[in-house]
Amino acid sequence: MKNSSMYLTTPLYYVNARPHLGHAYTTILVDFVKNFAKQQGRDVIFLTGTDEHGEKIAQSSEKSGKSPQEFTDEVSQTFRDAWKKLGLKPDVFYRTTQPEHYELVKKSLQRLKDKGDIHFTTYSGKYCVGCERFRTDQEWDEKGLCPDHQTPAEIREESNYFFKMGKYQDELKKYYAENSESIVPSNYLKEAQAMLSEPLEDLCISRPIERLKWGIPLPFDEGYVTYVWFDALLNYLGGIGYTGDEIDKTPGFKSEFWENSHHFIGKDILKTHAVYWPTMLLALGVKPPKQLLVNGFWLMGKLKMSKSLGNVVDPILVEETFGAEPFRYYLLRDMSFGADSSFTWESFILRSNAELANGIGNLASRSLTLIKKNFDSKMPSRATREDGDHALLKSIEKLPAAFCEEFEKARYHMAIGKFAEAVAECDRYINEHKPWALAKDPDQRGRLEAVLGTVADSLSILSVVMASVLPEGSRKLRVALGFADSEELPLFSEVGNYIAEGASLGEVPRLYPRLELPKED
Ligand code: MSP
Repeated sequence: MKNSSMYLTTPLYYVNARPHLGHAYTTILVDFVKNFAKQQGRDVIFLTGTDEHGEKIAQSSEKSGKSPQEFTDEVSQTFRDAWKKLGLKPDVFYRTTQPEHYELVKKSLQRLKDKGDIHFTTYSGKYCVGCERFRTDQEWDEKGLCPDHQTPAEIREESNYFFKMGKYQDELKKYYAENSESIVPSNYLKEAQAMLSEPLEDLCISRPIERLKWGIPLPFDEGYVTYVWFDALLNYLGGIGYTGDEIDKTPGFKSEFWENSHHFIGKDILKTHAVYWPTMLLALGVKPPKQLLVNGFWLMGKLKMSKSLGNVVDPILVEETFGAEPFRYYLLRDMSFGADSSFTWESFILRSNAELANGIGNLASRSLTLIKKNFDSKMPSRATREDGDHALLKSIEKLPAAFCEEFEKARYHMAIGKFAEAVAECDRYINEHKPWALAKDPDQRGRLEAVLGTVADSLSILSVVMASVLPEGSRKLRVALGFADSEELPLFSEVGNYIAEGASLGEVPRLYPRLELPKED
C-alpha cells in the first residue's frame, strides 16, 4: 500500500435486528484492514453506522410499540456498544437519521431531477421487503422465493419516481472493463459485469407516503419519501464531507480519501453496490469508489446466518465467554475471503487453542520464562549464534513481506496463515534445540543464549505482524519483549528494530488461555 490516505467502509447495518456475527465479521475485517494500513503509516478513515429508514424498520418499530425514532435510536446504540465491546475503533459512526444526511439526500435528488435523470411513471414488479428492492424475473429461485430471505415476491404496482440508471450503463461497463481490481475477489466483478450485460431498468427511488412514512421526503413531491437504498448509499460520501452540492464546489469534501475508497460488503448486496451506487455517483459527477471487497456468508449448517432465519450467533456473548481476540482471529482466519464459511463452536475452539493458546501464546511464555530464569529477564547476547539460528531469523524476517503480499491481494486468511506458519517454525526450532535441556548444562550457556535470543528476536517480528489481527496480544507481547508500551500499533518499518543485548525485558505474558466449550449450551 502506498503512503497516502485511505477510506474504509462497512455497510450501514439495518436496525431491525441487533448485531449478529455476520455484521461483526465485516466490521472486524475493516478494523483489521485499518490496523494494517496504519501500520504502513497511512492516514485512514474507517466508517460504519446504521441504516435506519425503509419498510423493514417501519415494520419492526411498529411491532415494538415504539416510535421509529425511539426504536432506531435504541437499536443503533446496540451496534455502537457492540463495536466498542469488541474493541473496534471506527472513526465515523454514521446514522441515516442524522439531520445533515437528510439535507444531502434531498439536495442530491434535486440535482438529479434538475438534470433530467429522474422521471415519474407507473411500474409493476416483484418486490422483496427483506432485500428492500425489486428483483428481476431471473432473481427468484425455482420455487419463486427470494434466495436470500426464502420469502415469496410481493407484486407491486404504483406510480413512483425513477432514476434513469440505464443512462450510465455504458460508462459503468467501460469502468469495470478498464479497472480489473475494482471488485474483488474477481468472480464478483464478473457477476457485476453480467448484471450489466442486459439493458438496465430504471430504478424506483420513491415510496408513496400512504405506504411508507418513515423515510426522507422527496424535495420535489411531499407525497413521497426516498427509497431506502438511494438514501443509505449516499452515506459513503456524507461520511467524508459531502453536503449534496457539487463535489468540486464542496471545500470540506475529503477527495483524497474518496480516491482511495474501499467498500467492504457482503455478497447479497453486490447489485446495490456494483450497479445502483456507481450509476448514482456517475450521475452526481463523482467517480465510482476505488474498490468493492465482497465477502461470502457465515453459514449455520447450510443456511446463511440471519435474523430472519433465527440462527444467529451473538458476538457479545462470544466476547463475554471467550474474549474478543480469539473470536476475531477465528473469523478472519477461517473465512477464506469471498467464499462462504460454516461457523461451528468446535472449529472456533480448535483454531483458538491450536494457534493462539498453543501457538503464539505458548511460544512467548515458554521462551520468555526461560530468559527470565536463566538471564534474569535480560535480552541474551547475539555473539554465540550459529548458522541454524541465523537461518531461523532469516526465515522469520521474510514473514512481513509474505504477509503484506497476501494482504494486498485481499487474501486475508492466507496472510494470517503465514503468521501461524512462522509461529510453528519457531516452535519446531525450540523443540529441536531444547533450551530447557541446554539450561541444565553450564557448558552450553552460549548455545542457550543463542537459541533464546533468536526466539526473542523472532517474537519481535511476530509482534509487529500480528498487531493488525491481535492488537492487544501484540501490545502485551511487545511490552514483555522490552519495547515501550504504546497505544499506537507498531509500524511495519519497525521490523528489524531488535532489543539491545542486556536490555531488561518485561513480565512474561499470559496471552491466550486454552478455551473450552461450556458444559451447557
Ligand atoms: N442496510 C443494508 C446495507 C446498506 S449499505 C449503504 C444491509 N444491511 S444488513 O444489516 O442487512 O446487512 C449488512 C451486511 O451484513 C451485509 O454486507 C451482509 O452481507 C452482512 N451479513 C449479514 N449476514 C451475514 C452472514 N451470515 N455472513 C456474512 N455477512 C452477512 O444490507
